[in-house]
Amino acid sequence: MSTVKAFKKPFPHRHLLGIDGLSRDDVYMILDLAEQYAAKNREPDKKHPILKGRTLINLFYENSTRTRTSFELAGKRMGADVINMSISSSSVKKGETLIDTAMTLNAMHPDFIAVRHPESGAVHLLARKVECAVINGGDGCHAHPTQALLDAMTIRQHKGKIEGLTIAICGDILHSRVARSNMQLLTLMGAKVRIIAPPTLMPACPEQYGVEVFYDMRKGLKGCDIIMMLRLQLERMEGNFIPSLREYFHFYGLDEEKLSHAKPDALIMHPGPINRGVEIDSKLADDINRSAILQQVEMGVAVRQAVLELLSHNI
Ligand code: CP
Repeated sequence: MSTVKAFKKPFPHRHLLGIDGLSRDDVYMILDLAEQYAAKNREPDKKHPILKGRTLINLFYENSTRTRTSFELAGKRMGADVINMSISSSSVKKGETLIDTAMTLNAMHPDFIAVRHPESGAVHLLARKVECAVINGGDGCHAHPTQALLDAMTIRQHKGKIEGLTIAICGDILHSRVARSNMQLLTLMGAKVRIIAPPTLMPACPEQYGVEVFYDMRKGLKGCDIIMMLRLQLERMEGNFIPSLREYFHFYGLDEEKLSHAKPDALIMHPGPINRGVEIDSKLADDINRSAILQQVEMGVAVRQAVLELLSHNI
């Protein structure tokens, strides 16, 4: 039976709103603790009730399967009371603002609020209005820090390190909070990061992120250790960014031929949900020898447990 050992070193953050502000040591602290939770989560008894008496509120203004469920599982496995706010049946539907919602929830003394919101920056605004720890579960096109952390954990498990790896992030970079948080985290940890996208889905001045920029999949994938595919964020697109889904797959979808340009042992990742046959060939997505997509989901619970534990020491 594995045990989760308490961390003695203080985690110097009150909230987790993004990757900015985290040091390499902070990231290692989260990943090392998450490894212990990952081991515990594979046992019949998954409980490690160090958050008994604490309250976690999941406040998701956008749909989610992986992030919301894993925060809920993380909180419950750690003994916290977990409330999933249903936005569709809340007073948000009567016009209550984000700030009023935040102050209302704050009055009930939660210890953590995990928030997803369609507007970039909304989670930072909310964090200024509450006394509890706030965790960003994804805000607009801006940040999704726990996704980047679980991606880093998955990469480290496969390759034994992050530093020195060549990692390609491919697809709809423009609208992707996952891409932004991963560019920050993976460059912080010493990886060589490439981004590959059609010109219409590339952000302005992409070099500002400290990455190499490619518009051609085959050139961008050459010699890569990790291929991180992204979902086309159709819900954030106003107008046409691609000629057709078929054409997008032809030029930017990951298939066997394009994959052959990466290293023979290159690992395929995708944050999900997947659009099969649009950004990735279905057979590759399901190939357990090449794809880490479900392992990313598994690590999501462990990373969120580690974040909850570390933040709990500061509230
Ligand atoms: N990767 C991710 O954020 O998935 P969900 O939208 O299902 O939470």
